[in-house]
Amino acid sequence: MDPVRLGVNIDHVATLRQARGGTEPEPVIAAGIAELAGADSITIHLREDRRHIRDRDLRLIRETVQTKLNLEMACTSEIIGIALDVGPEQVTLVPERRQELTTEGGLDVRGALDSIRSAAERFAEAGTRVSLFIDPDAEAVRAAAESGTQCVELHTGSYANAKNEAQATQRLSELAHAATLARSLGLWVYAGHGLNYANIRPLVRIPEVEEVNIGHSIISRAIFTGLDQAVREMKDLMRR
Ligand code: PXP
Repeated sequence: MDPVRLGVNIDHVATLRQARGGTEPEPVIAAGIAELAGADSITIHLREDRRHIRDRDLRLIRETVQTKLNLEMACTSEIIGIALDVGPEQVTLVPERRQELTTEGGLDVRGALDSIRSAAERFAEAGTRVSLFIDPDAEAVRAAAESGTQCVELHTGSYANAKNEAQATQRLSELAHAATLARSLGLWVYAGHGLNYANIRPLVRIPEVEEVNIGHSIISRAIFTGLDQAVREMKDLMRR
């Protein structure tokens, strides 16, 4: 089995900078350190309210990232325009609500099928891969397969929030079923949200999962160990 790729989400480096509204820490430096430590891609979320990552960060990171830039974004005309202009290798469409602390729940793909299809066509012309952040349920996977996009990122939040081992096993099995279905429908399978050093190992044993995106736990550990070590420790745990 190929190793699972690690996308490091560096939004929270920008969150720390925005706490003072100043110039440090710079997310672009975090992107470089994460890559040197073995990150397979860099993920940032340009939110409509620009609460952490700013347009300047996106442009600097686009210029410097050597692996793959994955831009998380809402499917709105403003952000689609920016993404087409900047040209990340991949975009991940996510639902976005102003009041939420972080992305809650997956996309309603069926409800937004027309706008997702039209965005998928524009990104396909630009050579940008499109991933949809969805809950691990069969209906969402089937809708994603009809949308003209190439990948799904399965929301691992309920697995990460499981209250006990039985619940975690149940939610892992839902993720495994959704992953198998997605792959059988021709979609590449990624996973993310709430993954950390304690819960990553069972998740990467799902054979269809090719890539995970992890932010909060890596940036939190980096405060104590440095980002280089935090990324290396996660990569070590992900060997399957
Ligand atoms: N994947 C997606 C689509 C997300 O929206 C987020 C949060 O920004 C993550 C992964 C990373 O989640 P976490 O910060 O909990 O690791």
